[in-house]
Amino acid sequence: MAEPTPTPENVSVTIDGMTLSVPKGTRLLDACAQAGVSISHYCYHPGLSAPAQCRMCLVEVEKSPKLVASCVGTVADGMVVHTQSENALKAREGVLEFYLVNHPLDCPVCDQAGECKLQDYVSAEGPPMGRSKEPKRVLGRDDFGGDVMFYADRCVMCTRCVRFMREVAQDERLTTVQRGSRTVIDTFYDEGLTGNIWADNIVDLCPVGALVSKDFLHKARAWDLDRTPSVCPNCSMGCNVRLETRDNQVMRLKPRPNPEVNAHWMCDFGRLNYSWMNRVDRIEAPLVRDGGRHVPMSWADTLTRLADALRGAAGGARAVVSPFEGNEGIGALRRVLEAVGGGDGVFRCEQGEEVILPGFPELALRRDRAANVVGAELFGFARTGGADGKGGLEQAAAHTGVLFVLGDELADAPADFGANASLFVYVGQHLAPAARNAHFVLPATTFAEMEGTFTNIQRRVQRFWPAQRAPGMARPSWQILGVLLAGISEAGAPGTAADAFAGLGAVRAEFGQLSWAELGAQGAVLPGVRELQETGD
Ligand code: SF4
Ligand code: SF4
Ligand code: FES
Repeated sequence: MAEPTPTPENVSVTIDGMTLSVPKGTRLLDACAQAGVSISHYCYHPGLSAPAQCRMCLVEVEKSPKLVASCVGTVADGMVVHTQSENALKAREGVLEFYLVNHPLDCPVCDQAGECKLQDYVSAEGPPMGRSKEPKRVLGRDDFGGDVMFYADRCVMCTRCVRFMREVAQDERLTTVQRGSRTVIDTFYDEGLTGNIWADNIVDLCPVGALVSKDFLHKARAWDLDRTPSVCPNCSMGCNVRLETRDNQVMRLKPRPNPEVNAHWMCDFGRLNYSWMNRVDRIEAPLVRDGGRHVPMSWADTLTRLADALRGAAGGARAVVSPFEGNEGIGALRRVLEAVGGGDGVFRCEQGEEVILPGFPELALRRDRAANVVGAELFGFARTGGADGKGGLEQAAAHTGVLFVLGDELADAPADFGANASLFVYVGQHLAPAARNAHFVLPATTFAEMEGTFTNIQRRVQRFWPAQRAPGMARPSWQILGVLLAGISEAGAPGTAADAFAGLGAVRAEFGQLSWAELGAQGAVLPGVRELQETGD
């Protein structure tokens, strides 16, 4: 194989015998990763400064008088690096032995077990036995406030947590106290981390089980969790996250890196607001009103009856959508409304204070506390109701024509909501009292149970994937409304979320400019009005 040629911007470096070309200034640790060599590291994190203090990342560089910390060393043209030489291995093994002098043998009861960087590194390249005969240091644990609990004996003093609070949260609430082997992390004030909504990121940053989430404490073992890429539904920022589940229950949310949206971080409001995904009192079968009661029915019969009813319906259409629904469901509802002659639609959204992350100001807990406000607006739904996300449904409640409700929007609605509608269709997850007036009750999945997309405040369209099994006969709203649309128009029924997404261009040209494939795992931004004019759409 020909060796890569260096360019003015690139240099050639050889790592464990493999020569590669990387941009000038590349961190050695990153160059090693590109060569497929993973280097142990504690203090280095791509979202923080690099103090080079943990000494875990030492590698041997030819012609260098001593070992180099690969987290701060950068590549130079012609550099030859050995990560597995005797010197490098011995140095890292020695550093690990020092870490084990005081580290408790807590693994069986430690929340980090299974995803702990001390376990991983020791099993990969640690000493077979520690030689220390001294008693271990015992410091105990401390409630740091907020969701964070500190197990001081497990700390490897990487200072990631201190640097996050200083550099990213820019709210200096943690520090190191004492010196040498007595050094310990501590809070400045009694309230500790309470009140800072970004504090739980230090739990993600901690490479060991020193900082743990009280919410997750002893709830599940890391190796029992299934991890699904998703998008936080709790504000219009749309942080990229993983939904971590066990036995079909969401156990925790973790941030998933996206440099355009949330970097490596997420807020505690979004992180801890997931219990609603595990609610069990769900609608499990399509229900059709027969006199004063609802009768369960198959999907085929229900949607055939509904299509017939829609064809003969009079009085104009109106709709209420939830901004927790995906683009595909909301867009499909807009198409159904157009197929029956058009109609007004509204959405409501709870609002709160915007809280910016100072060290990465692109990220903020946004005022709108739902993921798809922008999607709802793009598909022609108007905001109504108060900042508490309630009220504003008077016109819909009294509507005498066709009435659609998409999503759980009726918890605060009066019991006679929709009682005068000639045809009332409720597509939702839970049966609120007002939904009992519906002629058709159609069980829909939550975003956590299906594939789809949200549009965030940056107009970035981002995909989510199913992390939970749907209850009973519940189906994604894009499928329910897509099949209904096919029954009352010439449109084809979508077989997949990608089909449903492709249909969105029929109502908003911007969506027609994006393909499902280009959304990838990190989304793509909708073209603006000017770009659409340039392409003639
Ligand atoms: S608590 Fe965790 S993140 Fe903080 S210094 Fe200790 S090991 Fe590092
Ligand atoms: S900023 Fe918004 S999207 Fe991000 S984690 Fe918080 S609530 Fe979720
Ligand atoms: S990661 Fe390089 S010294 Fe800590």
